[in-house]
Amino acid sequence: MNELDQLVTAAQADFAAATTPADLENAKARYLGKSGRVTDLLKALGALPVEAKKARGAEINVAKVQVEAALQARRDALAAAELEAQLRAEALDVTLPGRGRGTGGLHPVSRTIERIEAIFGSMGFDVAEGPEIETDWMSFTALNNPENHPARSMQDTFYVDLKDAQGRWLNLRPHTSPMQVRYARAHAARHAGDIEQGKPMPEIRVIAPGRTYRVDSDATHSPMFHQCEGLWIGRNVSFKDLKFVFSDFIRQFFETDDFDVRFRPSFFPFTEPSAEIDIAFRSGPLAGRWLEVAGSGQVHPNVVRNYGLDPETHIGFAFGMGPDRLAMLRYGIDDLRLMFDGDLRFLQQFN
Ligand code: DAH
Repeated sequence: MNELDQLVTAAQADFAAATTPADLENAKARYLGKSGRVTDLLKALGALPVEAKKARGAEINVAKVQVEAALQARRDALAAAELEAQLRAEALDVTLPGRGRGTGGLHPVSRTIERIEAIFGSMGFDVAEGPEIETDWMSFTALNNPENHPARSMQDTFYVDLKDAQGRWLNLRPHTSPMQVRYARAHAARHAGDIEQGKPMPEIRVIAPGRTYRVDSDATHSPMFHQCEGLWIGRNVSFKDLKFVFSDFIRQFFETDDFDVRFRPSFFPFTEPSAEIDIAFRSGPLAGRWLEVAGSGQVHPNVVRNYGLDPETHIGFAFGMGPDRLAMLRYGIDDLRLMFDGDLRFLQQFN
C-alpha cells in the first residue's frame, strides 16, 4: 500500500472513531486543516519540477477526494444517528391508554349530609353551621347541664388548652346541640321588636350538621364524628309534630314506607320529656331489628330561657342524629372506621 492509500485508510479509521460532530471536526482538521496531512502534501508540491508536479498533484487530489468523501459519509451517519435518537426519545405510543386527571367525588358522609339538608330543606328547615371549638356555656351550661352535674360525664369531652372570657376551658364540641342555642339566640335577637310587643315571632326551624368530638374509638365510635341537630320552636309545636317530621325524613332518606318508628323514653338534660328515636325496617337485610337513629325531646324550659325566649309562649322539640350512622345503614357499611381511613378503594365505591 502506498503512502497515499495509507493516509486515506488512516483518515477513514479516524472519522469512524469520531462519535460526535465535534470529534469529527477535530479529525477533519488533522487531514484537511491548515496544517493537516493532505494540506502539507499539497504544499510540498511547490518544490517539484513541473512534470512531476502534475502527476503527483493528480495522485494527491484522488486521495483528497477520498478523504472528503469519507468525511461526508461520516457526517451523514452521525446526523442520521442523532435524528434517530431524538425520534426515539420523543416517541409517542398512541396505543397507550390515556392517563386522565382522575375524578374527585363526594365522601359518603358529605353525600349523606347533603341528603339530610335537601330533605329538611324541603320541609322548611334552615341549615346552620357553627364553631367546632365551643365555650363551656354553649356546650353544657346553656343546655341545662350545670357544672358538676353528673350528666356532663355522658360525654367524654376533649378540652382545648385555652380559656374563654369566663375563665373556663374551651372544648371541642361533643355534640351539635350548642347550635340550638346559637341559632335561637340570633333568631330571638333579630325578632326582639315583635317579641317585646307580644307579637308572634316567626318559628325557628333549623338543622345544624357538622363535626363533633369525643374521647372514644372503636368499630362504632370515632373521636371525630358527625351529628346533625334539629330544632323546631313555635307557639304550638308538639311531640306529634316531631314524630311526623322525623318519620317523613326517614321515609325520604331511606326511600321506603316499610318501617316502624318508636320513641323510647330516655334522659337528656336539655329536653323534658326525652326520647331515643328507633326505627325498624319491615323488610330488607336489617328487617325486624330496632335501630337507634336519634336522641330527641321537648326542649326544656331552662334551655328556652337561654335562647332568650319565654318558655310560657315558646315550645318545641329538638333532636340530634348521626349522619355517619345513617350513611352506614343506607350503604350497608359495618365499620365506622372505614369512613375516616381515607382508603380510595372504599371511597370510590360511592362515586
Ligand atoms: N346532643 C345529644 C347527644 O349528643 C343528642 C340529642 C339528644 C340532641 C336529644 C337533641 C336532643 O337535640 O333533643 O347525645
